[in-house]
Amino acid sequence: MAASMEQVWFRGAQGNRLAASAIGDGDAPIVLLLPAVGQSRHVWSGAAIALAAAGRRAICVDLRGHCDSEPAPGGDYDLSGYAADLAAVLAQLPSRATVVGVGPSGLAALVAAGEGGADLMSALVLVGVTAWVDPETAARIRVALERRAEAFADETAVLDAIARVHPFEPAPSATRQLIGAYERGEDALWRWRGDARTFAGFDLAAQSARIEAAAAKLRLPALLIRGTLNESVSRAATDRLQAMIAGAEAVEIDGGGHYVVTDHEDAFNARLLEFLERRLPLQARSYQSGADPRLLRDAMGCFGTGVTVVTTLDAEGAPIGFTANSFTSVSLDPPLVLFCIARKSANLQSFVDARSFAINILHIGQQPTSDRFARPGDARFEGIEWQVREGGGAPILTGSRASFDCTTHAIHDGGDHLIVVGRVERADFEPHRDPLLYLQGKYRRVHFA
Ligand SMILES: Cc1cc2nc3c(=O)[nH]c(=O)nc-3n(C[C@H](O)[C@H](O)[C@H](O)COP(=O)(O)O)c2cc1C
Repeated sequence: MAASMEQVWFRGAQGNRLAASAIGDGDAPIVLLLPAVGQSRHVWSGAAIALAAAGRRAICVDLRGHCDSEPAPGGDYDLSGYAADLAAVLAQLPSRATVVGVGPSGLAALVAAGEGGADLMSALVLVGVTAWVDPETAARIRVALERRAEAFADETAVLDAIARVHPFEPAPSATRQLIGAYERGEDALWRWRGDARTFAGFDLAAQSARIEAAAAKLRLPALLIRGTLNESVSRAATDRLQAMIAGAEAVEIDGGGHYVVTDHEDAFNARLLEFLERRLPLQARSYQSGADPRLLRDAMGCFGTGVTVVTTLDAEGAPIGFTANSFTSVSLDPPLVLFCIARKSANLQSFVDARSFAINILHIGQQPTSDRFARPGDARFEGIEWQVREGGGAPILTGSRASFDCTTHAIHDGGDHLIVVGRVERADFEPHRDPLLYLQGKYRRVHFA
């Protein structure tokens, strides 16, 4: 995955330059993300990172006259203008793209697809989209959008104005991404970044017939996503649109409103990725089957785990330990955990005899420790800081991400391993460190601490 966003540029339908941020492998299947009218491409940063991590290339585009994109030469900020830009961008991409659009930009994507652009798309994802905005709601939203022309005293005033666009929904909580569409001027006031002519908006309520016609023509995998609290896009309207698009799927995100992409980023990304994995899988599926040891090892490696060092004191009171990823939490009441130890382990008897052990969960910087405790040898603790807690127990490796001090509760047969169940007497953890992970025979790292 490319480490960070790259700035890229496209030409819109009238030669107008459109700013975009891209992330992910250049050869990966493309997902084109369009912000809602009034928003900047920064609303998509979380989804883009998730898509890139899942092996796709995410491209987030500023609409014409928004943020870093040039104004439309003729000042047309209507459905046709946005749809024409989308068709132009799609034609400049190296492969067909899944298009994701929110609100009016979702409608533009639907119109572009229905009016000839579908050949350049692989799928369509419409977020909070309806073909039937009642005139009253449309007028209310237009008035609220016109307020963007104001100069705001501070970020709070900007956010208040954004919240007023959808007054019957919860105010947006992921505000950083929304503020990205505004900037502070030399006079210390905050202003929306873009062409003032976009404030006029367009009459959503007058577009229904065109949108219905486009929906009826669509022959692409399509997903409709709606936040359950979205007041201007009802469940009934979503059902109706779904019924018009052949084979369309629809999902709801609990508690989400108009800002479901950013306020419910995790749930949103999960739905989007699930749809893409299922309908546009990255590679042809090739299942391997069997029960021979090699295949079983590979199959078990599909389950990602953390990495621990399990420790105890031997009969002489010397620290011993080994690397294990067979750690599992078993029960909360009583608090039980387990690990499995190979019967051929040099330390098997010490673990069987000891009345206590400790599980040390390793952080991202402890891979050398993991390697050392997986290699044969007696010098595993050399140079490693450890301590036994007051009152006794097993060695705790200093600075581990988490540690569990346990007393041995039971030992069960586990084939060529023993299953050692421990009762947790005390747990410590440090939440601000990333864990060391193990998947398919390799150490893996994720950064989210
Ligand atoms: C990531 C990883 C996970 C491991 N998990 C286990 C495990 O759960 N149980 C086990 O017995 N060995 C496991 N091993 C292997 C032991 O760490 C290794 O065989 C070690 O040398 C055993 O040392 P000992 O014979 O001194 O106990 C793992 C090794 C690695 C690298």
